[in-house]
Amino acid sequence: MASPVNVVVTGAAGQIGYALLFRIASGQLLGEDTPVRLRLLEIPQAVKAAEGTALELEDGAFELLDGVDVFDDAAKAFDGANVGLLVGARPRTKGMERADLLEANGGIFKPQGEALNGAADDVKVLVVGNPANTNALIAASNSDVPKDRFTAMTRLDHNRGLAQLANKFGVGVGQISKLTIWGNHSASQYPDVSNVLVDGKPVADQIDQGWLTDEFIPRVAKRGAEIIEVRGASSAASAAAAAIDHVYTWTNGTKPGDWTSAAIVSDGSYGVPEGLVSSFPVTAEGGKWKIVQGLDVSDFSRERIDASVAELAEEREAVTKLGLV
Ligand code: NAD
Ligand code: LMR
Repeated sequence: MASPVNVVVTGAAGQIGYALLFRIASGQLLGEDTPVRLRLLEIPQAVKAAEGTALELEDGAFELLDGVDVFDDAAKAFDGANVGLLVGARPRTKGMERADLLEANGGIFKPQGEALNGAADDVKVLVVGNPANTNALIAASNSDVPKDRFTAMTRLDHNRGLAQLANKFGVGVGQISKLTIWGNHSASQYPDVSNVLVDGKPVADQIDQGWLTDEFIPRVAKRGAEIIEVRGASSAASAAAAAIDHVYTWTNGTKPGDWTSAAIVSDGSYGVPEGLVSSFPVTAEGGKWKIVQGLDVSDFSRERIDASVAELAEEREAVTKLGLV
């Protein structure tokens, strides 16, 4: 069997961590032929809880699990890491302004970006902790690791969109392809159905504009808030499932004839300023993401992409002023 892949999960004692770790241990992140060594990074106050989860992981008797280590030191946790799932973040608390939130997260993602310098050459980083796109920007800006190794998660938004479309067309999610999430993982994101295929056939002409603007787009973009309201806590198992999907696709490639959505460092494609971590339509091949090129962008889409990208640019300006990038 191959040698184990080192997977770091930050915020391992949190609710996404709990939903994520057992699926990684069972081989769903990298495939059923790949043994993994889990490295759980937490803040000192939560190390004990992470150690409890490590005991449970042991009790799972997962054949692919080579071992579990618990850390409260980022440099030690990321040393030799092949995959970094950056889930732990500072949630917004009462009275906290957006700038305060960005500053608090800068205190987490700047040192983690630096610590990633000790990771393996092939490291893949997925930032889940919010504000995910700008946290990924902060980590990437403070690291010598090539920028194309840093990504932020919009796969949950993509999956939410697929589920809504499957309901609308009365088909299975596997029959829908070429959905795109553009921009920020926030309410400003743009879920774009212009190129969507159902069973390989275009359906944009059959989609009613009213349903699109009044139901589909806000439903997907505000689904995180809906989950918080209905469940009483933010999404956890669906977020963990999307993180698994993101890394699995990055490693094993996209399905032929389809693409997915991921927030990656912009190369200027589709007018998204270079360097911003924005969601795009992407394919994966040989462990690399590639932005799908040459798509027509209607005025309707342009306006929405620009609005979300403007929010990302504002966030970048705010963290630049704070000296974080
Ligand atoms: P949680 O509060 O249950 O867990 C977060 C954990 O992170 C805690 O155990 C905390 O101790 C830990 N942590 C804080 N700072 C840390 C640090 N510096 N190093 C290591 N660990 C640290 O939260 P959760 O529900 O697991 O959510 C985690 C994050 O994911 C939140 O920011 C949430 O908003 C975000 N999220 C993102 C998406 C997405 O689609 N991108 C979806 C859902 C949730
Ligand atoms: C989600 O999309 O479910 C989360 O990002 C919501 C949140 O604010 O944690």
